Amino acid sequence: MRILVAGGAGFIGSHTVVELAEAGHETVILDNFSNSSEKVIGRIEAITGKKITFYKADILDKGALEEIFSKEKIDAVIHFAGLKAVAESVQKPWEYYENNIAGTLTLVDVMRKHGVKNIIFSSSATVYGNPAFIPITEECPKGQCTNPYGWTKSMLEQILSDIQKADKEWNVILLRYFNPIGAHKSGTIGENPSGVPNNLMPYITQVAVGKREELGVFGNDYNTPDGTGVRDYIHVVDLAKGHVKALKKIEENAGLKIYNLGTGIGYSVIDIVKNFEEASGVKIPYAIKPRRAGDIDTCYSDASRAKEELGWEAENGIREMCEDSWRWQKNNPNGYED
Ligand code: NAD
Ligand code: UD1
Repeated sequence: MRILVAGGAGFIGSHTVVELAEAGHETVILDNFSNSSEKVIGRIEAITGKKITFYKADILDKGALEEIFSKEKIDAVIHFAGLKAVAESVQKPWEYYENNIAGTLTLVDVMRKHGVKNIIFSSSATVYGNPAFIPITEECPKGQCTNPYGWTKSMLEQILSDIQKADKEWNVILLRYFNPIGAHKSGTIGENPSGVPNNLMPYITQVAVGKREELGVFGNDYNTPDGTGVRDYIHVVDLAKGHVKALKKIEENAGLKIYNLGTGIGYSVIDIVKNFEEASGVKIPYAIKPRRAGDIDTCYSDASRAKEELGWEAENGIREMCEDSWRWQKNNPNGYED
């Protein structure tokens, strides 16, 4: 298939473009590079040995989208394009709702005008809020999000579901990611946060490479075995492969489907620190800090639906996740800026 990958220069998008190319799909990247670097295109080309078509464009720009859809024969869209910094979304809710919601509405409008009615959407475990039960299946009711970013995911799930219900020509697959970490084995593409990392693994790797002094552990009084927050970390390459499997489902006219993409295993913050130290041989100094607003005790998936219906399951364990995150950071201490 020929796939438009919106946000394809980002962390998950770039890894997905590699896996799509390796599975024999053609890809067209659309990205405004607001949170990524154009250098990633050359890196993807080096990994895959294929020329990658890309457009520097914004999903809010209807004219630019019209041109791309008129020129390229697109079969399906994988939609990663969005803003994702939780704390920033609390400060700038309008910007988040505009970029993520208005952007998606614009993209979907141009898609339907061009008869492209297949979409895979990047959702998040954040839609479960403080989950009603653990492990979280897709039947777990959606919850109250604690920030505008989370609400954009929850609302976009609803919008895309309603569009599919009204027009059965649409195939909509909502993928709820747990906590993606790791990087491609080549160590040439990976997560490239701007400023101070919000998420755990990029903070740890920046401590390891000497860019930050110590990790702050946000709370050790949670209701978990060691008191620190427990999450379902998933290797980004496994996550990327989940999209290739979801495309196969689209080819079977799936209608509306929702899948958790996680490993089903929960690790605490301290587990991650210890595993990273073992994998890298680098000591990570840390200090216990107050809880971060909006955090929950425990979040991990039951990903058995994806296994049964997509034939997908995560292959990499925590060791590979830590090794590959470290290789990327060590080889690229300043991300794509070197
Ligand atoms: P990312 O920021 O690395 O990638 C997103 C890409 O979209 C970036 O390259 C950015 O430049 C681009 N983009 C943003 N707004 C755009 C716009 N208006 N027009 C065109 N391009 C635009 O983030 P990621 O970690 O790769 O996440 C990809 C998607 O998955 C996001 O929608 C994110 O919310 C979702 N998600 C991520 C995680 C995670 O932990 N990384 C977890 C759950 C869901
Ligand atoms: C965060 C987002 C969530 C998003 C997910 C995946 C928040 C509140 N939630 O989830 O919406 O879908 O990322 O991108 O930001 N931790 C530390 N020190 C740090 C960083 C994190 O102790 O410097 C802890 C956190 O308290 C948490 C765990 O590490 O227990 C994981 O944190 P993080 O990587 O930010 O992911 P989530 O909080 O699960």
